[in-house]
Amino acid sequence: MRFFVDTANIEEIKKANDMGIICGVTTNPSLIAKEGRDFNQVIEEIASIVDGPVSGEVKATTVEAKAMIEEGRQIASIHPNMVVKIPMTAEGLKAVKVLNSEGIKTNVTLVFSAAQALLAARAGASYVSPFLGRLDDISMPGIDLIKDIMDIFTVHGIETEIIAASIRNPVHVIDCAKAGADIATVPYPVLEQMTHHPLTDQGIVKFQDDYRKAFGES
Ligand code: E4P
Repeated sequence: MRFFVDTANIEEIKKANDMGIICGVTTNPSLIAKEGRDFNQVIEEIASIVDGPVSGEVKATTVEAKAMIEEGRQIASIHPNMVVKIPMTAEGLKAVKVLNSEGIKTNVTLVFSAAQALLAARAGASYVSPFLGRLDDISMPGIDLIKDIMDIFTVHGIETEIIAASIRNPVHVIDCAKAGADIATVPYPVLEQMTHHPLTDQGIVKFQDDYRKAFGES
């Protein structure tokens, strides 16, 4: 399983990229709004840092296929690595079909059922983004959705990649890896959390103490 970072914050993207752990970035209208900056500017900056797929979503207020297609073309023109993120609606699927026929990659987002994922794949989506955390929030096990989509895509030889999204903690990440998700898009604080283990921290302190006792500060 590969990692994308799920943020529009440049500092977080740089930190994750410098660790060599990510190969792409996902954003959404809420993440862009949080930065309070112009969409194109943020996206261009992200694409100049990470050499991999960057998902930029059509505006939250764009609901008709025609408008999504126009906006999708504009987003795709920002950088060759752009992936157009389209919400999982009937209009969204129409937009995916057209964008795909033009060679533009799409990421169908807000996927909450295996049926939605299958439709998105058949419409020509390059990626589907099932949201784990938001399902867990309503007491439905999000990981079951990832497993179902994985099974269906495997049985039918579907090449659309699964991006496990709405990840809230390292347990989610490991569960998605075990389920066979192609990618997990992870918020930076969770990636950071994954670097730690109490025994690692204790081990470092003990090595430092022992070294100082034997050799001083040299
Ligand atoms: C996916 O691409 C979305 O940006 C994201 O994972 C949503 O996560 P949230 O449920 O934490 O907002």
